[in-house]
Amino acid sequence: MKRTKKVSNINTMEMISPEGLNESQANLINLANKATDKAYAPYSNFRVGAALVLEDGQTFWANNQENICYPAGICAERVLLSYTHSNFPDLKPLSIAIVAKKSDNSGLATVTPCGLCRQTISEYEMKFDSPIEVLMLRADGHVLKAGGIDQLLPYKLEDLNE
Ligand code: THU
Repeated sequence: MKRTKKVSNINTMEMISPEGLNESQANLINLANKATDKAYAPYSNFRVGAALVLEDGQTFWANNQENICYPAGICAERVLLSYTHSNFPDLKPLSIAIVAKKSDNSGLATVTPCGLCRQTISEYEMKFDSPIEVLMLRADGHVLKAGGIDQLLPYKLEDLNE
């Protein structure tokens, strides 16, 4: 029998005030914030830091690494996920935080992951069969929280092949 399948696209993200973050979330935002200091972003002047926590509690951080040949540059999230999955392929990432600043020191910039990074996060969700929380710091200090990549990447390839 032919059946139709509903693919839902209900996008309900949470906005968390700085005081509303739990300890682990606040720690990740902090680490991502610090990671912006060492970003290599001489072309965009947009310094991005990312931090994640693995299931055993270890935290790691990274930042964007640009290149004079622009497409060769790598976003903070993919530097970080590649590093952690290279070294800890059996430990699932639970949560990733992203923070951005402009190099002119004008303060925080709102950031959300690019399409390639969303697809990369999706890959590790798929591998571990477990959602990865995405915390995105906004210029006003509030944090936009996606409970999993579905909220940022609806109708992804994996869904359509189920
Ligand atoms: N970038 C990141 O590292 N992560 C994001 O979530 C957004 C964009 C980097 C790519 C490039 O080096 C610079 O920010 C400007 O797009």
